[in-house]
Amino acid sequence: SNLESLLDFFSDIKPSENAERILRDRYLLKDGEGKYLEHSWDDIARRVSRYIASAEILYNDDIEKIRDVEEKFYKLLKSRVFLPNSPTLFNSGKTLSRDVFQKNREDMSLEDYKKIFNSRNRHNMLSACFVVPLEDSMEGIFDAVKDAALIQKYGGGVGYDFSVLRPKESSIAGTGGKSSGPISFMHVFNTTASTIEQGGARRGAQMAVMRYDHPDVIDFINSKKNNDGKSVLNYFNISVNFDNPEEFLKKLENDEEIELTHPNSNIKRTIKAKELFDLIANNAWKSGDPGMLFLGRHNKYYALSDVTPVSATNPCGEEPLPPYGSCNLGSIDIAKVIDFVELGNPEGENNDLFKELIYWTARFLDDVIDINVYPLEKIDRVSKEQRFIGLGIMGLADAMYKKDLPYNSEEGRMFMAETLAQFAYYSHLASSELAKERGNFPLFEKSKYKNGFIPFSMLNDDYSENIRQWNNLIKEHFFGEGKKYKRNVQVNTVAPTGSISNLADTSSGIEPNFMLAYIRYMTDKEGNRVPLPYMNKILRDKLDGDLNSELEAEIIEKGSLQNIEGIPEEIKKVFVTSMDISGMDHLLAQNVIQSYLDASCSKTINLPKEATVDDIKEIYKKAMELNLKGITIYRDGSLETQVLTKAKKE
Ligand code: CDP
Repeated sequence: SNLESLLDFFSDIKPSENAERILRDRYLLKDGEGKYLEHSWDDIARRVSRYIASAEILYNDDIEKIRDVEEKFYKLLKSRVFLPNSPTLFNSGKTLSRDVFQKNREDMSLEDYKKIFNSRNRHNMLSACFVVPLEDSMEGIFDAVKDAALIQKYGGGVGYDFSVLRPKESSIAGTGGKSSGPISFMHVFNTTASTIEQGGARRGAQMAVMRYDHPDVIDFINSKKNNDGKSVLNYFNISVNFDNPEEFLKKLENDEEIELTHPNSNIKRTIKAKELFDLIANNAWKSGDPGMLFLGRHNKYYALSDVTPVSATNPCGEEPLPPYGSCNLGSIDIAKVIDFVELGNPEGENNDLFKELIYWTARFLDDVIDINVYPLEKIDRVSKEQRFIGLGIMGLADAMYKKDLPYNSEEGRMFMAETLAQFAYYSHLASSELAKERGNFPLFEKSKYKNGFIPFSMLNDDYSENIRQWNNLIKEHFFGEGKKYKRNVQVNTVAPTGSISNLADTSSGIEPNFMLAYIRYMTDKEGNRVPLPYMNKILRDKLDGDLNSELEAEIIEKGSLQNIEGIPEEIKKVFVTSMDISGMDHLLAQNVIQSYLDASCSKTINLPKEATVDDIKEIYKKAMELNLKGITIYRDGSLETQVLTKAKKE
């Protein structure tokens, strides 16, 4: 079996009705009058593959080769085995005349590709993740508001470090006045976001980070306390940054105080570590915010931390970036791959296929960097000097259903760990391969890679025999070829894939399924609401003859199998949902997965409604003890429309 046969196999499978609906609502291009210019997923696959492949002219003047690359990209997309983040789908080739995409591939000339590449303009912004720096001055703040507005206009999400701003009531030299403080400026950013619909297609999302020892940290932690999901800072997720969580844990244990200070202010406060922690946990219990972020750990695994340390993450937390950094994401649906490849086994039969798939998806994302049009000159520079890509996976939960592996079990976690180790290894091989063909990222010589550097923590060798073998391969790579060749400073990220997993008809990112069955309402041409029942297709196959309309109705009503009589225990154990799994099991999954990601992953630790503040503290402590890079919890029902979940639904 080879890559072609896998891609051909899935190209023949049509998108579901649900995927078609999302395509029509948001992805198919329309003209100014709302008339469709595109009609099917195939049209999008053609447009995006041709547009991105035209970046190949920078490295390649063999027309046959460029056409082959286009065809490869086309098949990756058409099969929905790989999907780039939404801005790439929205904005690739958007302003070009349709004829360009109707031409047969065999008739494409080098000139045609050059024309496409040179046609790009500011409407062709392709990335989902940005970090914009703030400066502690009125001018600096409002420059950032403008930068963020431009990014969001084209569909990007932005993260900011608000610690930079002096606390409220600090003196301002120029005017003799008092600063209104970071929280008041967060409201300015929020209002701006609310007035800009991202790419006209979805709402904006932002991340605000603040250090735990900023004098306004208490206001920060309370800033979303009264949020009902709709009114207070609803375009923000917020996270408190602890650069050194081990040190904070000690302060908690010894009941020590923390000094809250800021370099540009005389204001000094103190707070007990325990009080600060209680406040964070209480608010998170109430509304999911704030999360905790450990940027020190992010920097530890970031190869340019000595040059441009990362200062925040994107809104959903998966991508740490330095000021003016950007990243374009893309995700491989491993629930499809697993039909062809035995994932996680170093001696697995079709491993070459997976390796090749990863090479082509990495090449796609590397091309996106070159053809992308960045909203600011400074972002263009940082993005091209470091060449971040965020290659990730989706469909983990569905893949595990297929293999009868419970998400909340030791064998399940072993599968996750081994698959991610394989994924990371192949991805970094691909980035080195690309470096040989195209050169290292320009700041490579200043990076930690050149002295031998592994950009993620890895699990211990004794975790499993497969892990031991992957670890050895990984070490060999980073202390061998990886010291010489690296095209991208960061390679792997697991995104929420809130929209694209729906387009791919698979489970999102690394999350368990939220529900196994539900009814979605659609509006038909006459404006009637029509129920569209959905059931996870792997479950449907598994239940097969046992499934009748009564059972289907019960699964829809309960969303989970756990309290349904007559379903075999083996099926119940495997087909678990987010809410069937304990918080600790969510966390342990995040832990093994994150051990092989150089960037990070989007993961929500879902907790039942009855979870207590102490439960949340226990989870946050565990996240600090283990090597997690950050943590986000969500207690069922605490907020109906949290930014994150909302962003996913819209
Ligand atoms: O599935 P899709 O490509 O649309 O996006 P995602 O994987 O759910 O989110 C990836 C990233 O896109 C997020 O972390 C944000 O940085 C950004 N995003 C955003 O800015 N606004 C949204 N409404 C959704 C995502």
